[in-house]
Order: sequence, then structure tokens, then C-alpha cells
Amino acid sequence: MHEQPTHAATGAVAAPPPVGPVRLIINGTAHEVELAPWTTLLDALREYMQLTGTKKGCDHGQCGACTVLVNGKRINSCLTLAVMHEGDDITTIEGLGTVEALHPLQQAFVDHDAFQCGYCTPGQICSAQGLLNEGKAHTEDEIREMMSGNLCRCGAYVGILAAVKEVVDKGEKVK
Ligand code: FES
Ligand code: FES
Repeated sequence: MHEQPTHAATGAVAAPPPVGPVRLIINGTAHEVELAPWTTLLDALREYMQLTGTKKGCDHGQCGACTVLVNGKRINSCLTLAVMHEGDDITTIEGLGTVEALHPLQQAFVDHDAFQCGYCTPGQICSAQGLLNEGKAHTEDEIREMMSGNLCRCGAYVGILAAVKEVVDKGEKVK
């Protein structure tokens, strides 16, 4: 029989974690998932909704692998709680383009060989879409600066910069 967990020091029975329904709109589709209130948006996507395109690198806001778009703005999904985003319009890499019709950033990443292992790529592309939405980066230096929160351990920065610059130059609009 399953036993209730107890506190190691006091022997007290631990309370079950409080879970409740959280309504999230992901890539235009409404989802309702049972989550503990401390579940990050990143864990909600990956562990509860099988949207594993969004990657967990550091889990501490330092690498950008977990970048998603919330109401068009890029955020680190490891640094925010899922319950804080009820009703928000959340876009993950799965919502940008399709296999048959790649998003312009995805096509540019392919064309410029802008990845090696690919682990940082979903975050790079979501961040670049956020950059486009912001409309502030025009030069290579500005793109470098405003993409600096997205690290690439493979060092594919030359290709990433070229890919993002190409799309910026074309003036691609918000998805
Ligand atoms: Fe979120 Fe690294 S996993 S910033
Ligand atoms: Fe490997 Fe960026 S392509 S971490």
C-alpha cells in the first residue's frame, strides 16, 4: 500500500501538493492542465503538455534556451510561473511555421547553417521573433546586443547573426 510521505525530522505527514486547473492558450489552442502553483511555464510546456521544443538549459534565466513569446514579447519561460499566464497568448517554437512551410527565421537558420547540435535553436528563433516584434535592432551590432541573452554552446553565432540579419533586412512582420 502507498504510504503518505512523512517529514524526516518530525514524522509529520506531508500535505499533498495543491494542484488546480490552469488555462493556457498555446499556439492558438486552449489547454487546461492540473498544475501546482509553483510550476514554471517551462515545466508546464515540457512536462505536462509534451511541447518539448522549448528547451531547458540552465533553468535559471541565464541561457535563453527556454525563450517563448507571451503576447508577442520574448521571455525566459523558466523564470515565470504558468499560473501567471492564464489568458495570455503564448507562442512556442511549435507555433512558428510548419514542416511544409517554414517560418522565415527557420528557413534563414537552415540557409545560414545557424546551428550545430540545435539545442539552443528554438530559443534563438523565438528570441529573434521577439526581436523582430520589438523593431529596435537593425545593425549587426544591435542584433548581437539584443540577442545576447541567448547562448550557443556550439558557437554558431556567425550563422545565427547572418540568419537574423537577413530576416531583419527583409522587414519580416510579426508572425
Ligand atoms: Fe531558461 Fe536557461 S533554461 S534561461
Ligand atoms: Fe548547439 Fe547552439 S547549436 S548550443
